[in-house]
Formats: sequence, C-alpha cells, structure tokens
Amino acid sequence: MTSYELPPLCYIRRRVTAESVTCTIGQVSAGSAAPNITSRGTGIAIASAGRIESSFTEAESGVNTDHASAQRQLRKDERGFLKKVIAMYPGSFDPPTNGHLDLIERGSKIFDELVVAILRNAEKAPLFNLSERLLMLEAMTADFKNVRVETFDGLMVEYAAKVKASAVLRGIRAISDYEYELQMALMNRKLQPDLETVFMMPAEQYSYLSSRLVREIAQLGGSVKDLVPDLVVQRLKEKLDPAVKLANARNLKQRKRG
Ligand code: PNS
Repeated sequence: MTSYELPPLCYIRRRVTAESVTCTIGQVSAGSAAPNITSRGTGIAIASAGRIESSFTEAESGVNTDHASAQRQLRKDERGFLKKVIAMYPGSFDPPTNGHLDLIERGSKIFDELVVAILRNAEKAPLFNLSERLLMLEAMTADFKNVRVETFDGLMVEYAAKVKASAVLRGIRAISDYEYELQMALMNRKLQPDLETVFMMPAEQYSYLSSRLVREIAQLGGSVKDLVPDLVVQRLKEKLDPAVKLANARNLKQRKRG
C-alpha cells in the first residue's frame, strides 16, 4: 500500500500486482455528498466535496490489466507518479530580463508549480533592491497561475527543501554557461542528492542576453527595449535617467503638497 499527495483532506491508496490495480480513495471530512471519481490515464483525479470511501478495480477505473502495464505502473509508483512536481528557479534577477521570462514560461508548462526565488545577497550591491526585483517579477509573472515569486538567502538547496521543490530550473544560453552551471548542479547534488537540476534553453533571440549587459547598456544610456519587459525599461529609466529621476521627485513633492 502506498499513500500519495492529494488535495487537502483526500488520500488514495493503491495496490498494484501483476494481476490487478486496486485503488482506495478516501476523504477525511464529514458530509454525505456523493463521490465523483474520475480516472485520468493511469492516474486518478478526485473532484468532490463530502466523504469518499471507495475501492475499485482496474476494470472500473479504466486502467489496463496486463502484466507489462502492471510493471510500468509499479515503476511510476516508485517515482511518485501522482506527486506534484514543484520546481525552484533561483537567480539574482537584477534586473529580470525577457530571457528570464522566457524560461519562466517554459518552466510553468512542465512543472506543476514554479517558485521563482530571488537571492537576497548581502555581499553584492545590486542595482535594484530586493523588493524592487520582487515587484517587477510579480508583475511579469502575474498571468502564470502556477508561478509565484519569493526571496531567499542561505543555501539554495535548503530553500528548495523548504518549498518542497524536487527540481531546480536553470537556463543555459551558450557553452560558456555550461561549466559554471555544471559545477553548481553537481555541488548542489552533493549537498542534496534528491534535488535534480533541470536545464532549459531560452529562445535563441535571448541567447546573448544577460542582466549584467542590460545594466551596463542602461547605465551608459543605450536602449534595452526588446531585452527586458516594458515595465523594467521604465524602472531602469526611473533609476538611471537623471531627467526621469528629477521629474519623479517633482511629481512626488506636488502629490505631497496636494
Ligand atoms: O542569477 P545568478 O546570479 O546566476 O544565480 C546564482 C544563484 C542564485 C542560483 C546561486 O548563486 C545560488 O544558488 N546561491 C545561493 C547560495 C548557494 O546555495 N550556493 C551554493 C551553490 S552550489
């Protein structure tokens, strides 16, 4: 018998043998509404309020019965088939770029939950403080319902454990990224063997894009349009353009007087 993570108050127990797959689903709450049990491929989805206490065989659930299928099922069970995969996407994001956004979008499609985690690094003097980066990333990712943005300090593997992430998402743009990323992935694996690093490639138009270059270009007065979202273009202007800074200060003064 194995237990799986399910929506609050639900549990499922599954016994798999070569002959049959038997599932017992239960909900630990009071109430008498009829259970609504749906089978989705080899997984089981439960959508119901009230108490469910049910046991059914593969014929009822639509699960295939042959030996090979039972074996496949066993393998899936071993790796927690019904478990939600939460991934963490750590980084400095100073500032967040279109490359980051591209990766977040890709990650949101393959993971159940994606936690974008901004490193709170006391050693570096960032251009944008932590709350500025948090606000920008929150606005940029507002449309992705399974993405949330948080901040962390200390070891990344420890924060991954805190948010129950089983994977770390990192982007690889070019071969030059590989050495550093490999070193970091292997070191993190040494620290936390169960945490997998998953590399994804951003769209090729972002393969030469980095936060460091964006900062440099913006600080020297160049255009970063198309490299970062409009919101970040605006924040960079507010931070770096003396004329915009002055106008904002005047507006603020006027608002305070009014
Ligand atoms: O965007 P960046 O600067 O490339 O991100 C680097 C980051 C934040 C992923 C890395 O520095 C990190 O994980 N720092 C947290 C401290 C830590 O766990 N260090 C050991 C890494 S093997």
